[in-house]
Amino acid sequence: MLIGFPLSFFVGAFVFDLLFFFSGNNDFQLVGYYLVIAGIIGAVMAAIPGFVDYLHTVPPESSAKKRAATHGLINSFNLLLFVAVFFLKKNAALDFGWILLLEAIGIGLLAVAGWMGGTLVYRNQIGVDVRYAAAGKWKEEKVKKTGELVKVAALNELERNQLKLVHVNGQRVVIARKEEGYVAFSDACTHKGGSLAGGSMICGTVQCP
Ligand code: FES
Repeated sequence: MLIGFPLSFFVGAFVFDLLFFFSGNNDFQLVGYYLVIAGIIGAVMAAIPGFVDYLHTVPPESSAKKRAATHGLINSFNLLLFVAVFFLKKNAALDFGWILLLEAIGIGLLAVAGWMGGTLVYRNQIGVDVRYAAAGKWKEEKVKKTGELVKVAALNELERNQLKLVHVNGQRVVIARKEEGYVAFSDACTHKGGSLAGGSMICGTVQCP
């Protein structure tokens, strides 16, 4: 959860800049200046795993994918906003009241993006292993479809009620082992596109995460 770093540094920068604005104490301004730098570094560090999750973890054509895209765009815009704040402060190019206003806008955007990030993690279950106890090891494989038949698992590879995500020429298919044998179905939940491979197979019925 690297998001804690930019969140706290940017909010801290705003608070110290406010203190400087009302007290005129230059020490507050200096702390605010360095906190913006720390926040920018933290935001870049948080963006990298976020982008990897967007590409590889968030299921395609799901409500989570749209939410993740908006979340990423808001955060990227916010990062640019604070980079601009940094240069404006460094060059004293703008009245300090305007800098405070830009920072306040950035904090507001952080709150919106943070809310979306929370929804992605806790409602859309992105980035956490939500599988139930005894679900077996997470299994995922990419296979190339060359003919009519594709080998997606060995006969005894899965335990009963265990799932495996297989990417067949870019399509996400779940292989599951039921009492009566193997079944295959689309990974996309028919509700809002959640990844069924991250769900549970209970007595032969799959449950979306
Ligand atoms: S996406 Fe909502 S239940 Fe599967």
